[in-house]
Amino acid sequence: MKLLLISIMLLGVSTAQAASIYAGKAKAAAVCSQCHGVRAISADAPFPPLAGRDEEYLRMALKQYRDKTRVSDIMNNIAGSLTDKDINNIVNYYSRQSK
Ligand code: HEC
Repeated sequence: MKLLLISIMLLGVSTAQAASIYAGKAKAAAVCSQCHGVRAISADAPFPPLAGRDEEYLRMALKQYRDKTRVSDIMNNIAGSLTDKDINNIVNYYSRQSK
């Protein structure tokens, strides 16, 4: 019985994590990848790559764009409509992609 409970809990944790990466992937594919790609793009491209970047860095950058402490016409607009949950899902996804 105890073992069953533990496996149910483990299952719960892993599906919750999968769901957030999935939500991040959907958002990234629909919005972000149009400019940033999914994997790293060439160094001279106008858009900085996001794949495989540090999760904390990406989270900080998006929150700064959202509250406009970092200025970019494009990114201020895009990040303005993201919730904390969206940001977590997206950075979770991008930081786990290989470069
Ligand atoms: C229309 C094009 C466009 C779209 C769509 C877009 N971005 Fe950007 N993004 C840019 C540009 C241009 C910059 C560089 C702006 C600057 O100088 O700050 C940038 C910068 C960034 C940075 C900072 C990277 C760094 O190296 O500091 C992050 C993080 C980022 N975008 C995340 C996202 C996410 C997440 C999405 C989807 C929700 C997204 N962007 C959608 C154009 C776009």
